[in-house]
Amino acid sequence: MEVSLYEVGPRDGLQNEKEIIPTSLKTELIERLVSSGLKKIETTSFVHPKWIPQLADASDVLHQIKRKNGIVYSALVPNMRGLERALESGLTEIAVFMSASETHNKKNINKSIAETYPVLREVVEAALAKNIKVRGYVSTAFGCPYEGEVSPAAVIQVTEELLRMGVYEVSIGDTIGVGHPRQVKEAFTALIGQCGAERIAGHFHDTRGMGLANVYAALEAGVRTFDSSIGGLGGCPYAPGASGNISTEDVTYMLHAMGITTGVNLNELVKTGEFMEQVLGRPLPSKVLAAMKSKQKGGENENEYTGC
Ligand code: HMG
Ligand code: MG
Repeated sequence: MEVSLYEVGPRDGLQNEKEIIPTSLKTELIERLVSSGLKKIETTSFVHPKWIPQLADASDVLHQIKRKNGIVYSALVPNMRGLERALESGLTEIAVFMSASETHNKKNINKSIAETYPVLREVVEAALAKNIKVRGYVSTAFGCPYEGEVSPAAVIQVTEELLRMGVYEVSIGDTIGVGHPRQVKEAFTALIGQCGAERIAGHFHDTRGMGLANVYAALEAGVRTFDSSIGGLGGCPYAPGASGNISTEDVTYMLHAMGITTGVNLNELVKTGEFMEQVLGRPLPSKVLAAMKSKQKGGENENEYTGC
């Protein structure tokens, strides 16, 4: 079995950092992620720089990275102004986003759900007309920081609306990490039944330590694309309490150990995670990063059991 990992660390990760990371280090991170074998990278975000100052250098990042053939470099785009900026940066894929709950949608992008549809429809149509692929996100799919429970019907409705617009895949976001495996399996089974497995991806934040269990539950339901973030960086500044995504190192380790291929080189990922720890000056949440960096120092590799 093969699973595709969509790396969101440079966007979802860095949007939540207090310090603004220099552009040159962001580009180095993206290039290291590509060298680790990741094929799809969400590099930055063309949202309003006042809303997310951490990613105000989006255009510079995209102009400075040395792009490689066969790699998908993507970015978040909330509206037509964002699309104009993305086009100037030469992107071939973008992602639009909205929430399944009204209050998070309003706090995050300043519009009701009904007001958001025509904005995104225009973006998707304009992007497709220029041969730009469009991915979609549905946030707060398993719970909203303002409203609490979110109904599975609301998630399916927003997902289907995005697919009707022409996005090729919708990533279902547990923005504040409240979902649990039974809920995840039921929700993804229903979504896949309605929309098809090839159209649905999972985006889990590990706020309550449910991340990998939720990946497993979604895998069982048939999901084959997961978003993850190097070191477990991440969060949403407009969702109080949201913390990092599932770590790319952790999910890669789990999938490889289960005999599932990803095309990613775990040893290289760990080096990239260590690079980010040095950039940020603190340990990152990834458990596999913590375990393997010490092992790598001792010259061991990921498959060796050391009895401790
Ligand atoms: P707004 O203030 O309602 O925008 O913000 P507006 O359309 O009223 O325009 C106001 C001014 O902003 C205008 O300038 C526009 O040109 C300018 P003026 O005429 O006054 O000089 N403007 C822009 N400038 C640059 N780039 C743009 C842009 N758009 C308008 N794209 C907006 C609406 C959507 C822009 C704002 O609310 C915003 O940027 N929100 C983004 C918040 C965000 O990035 N949140 C985190 C990402 S979502 C997430 O993390 C969840 C996810 O990971 C999945 C999960 O975990 O569930 C994806
Ligand atoms: Mg997220």
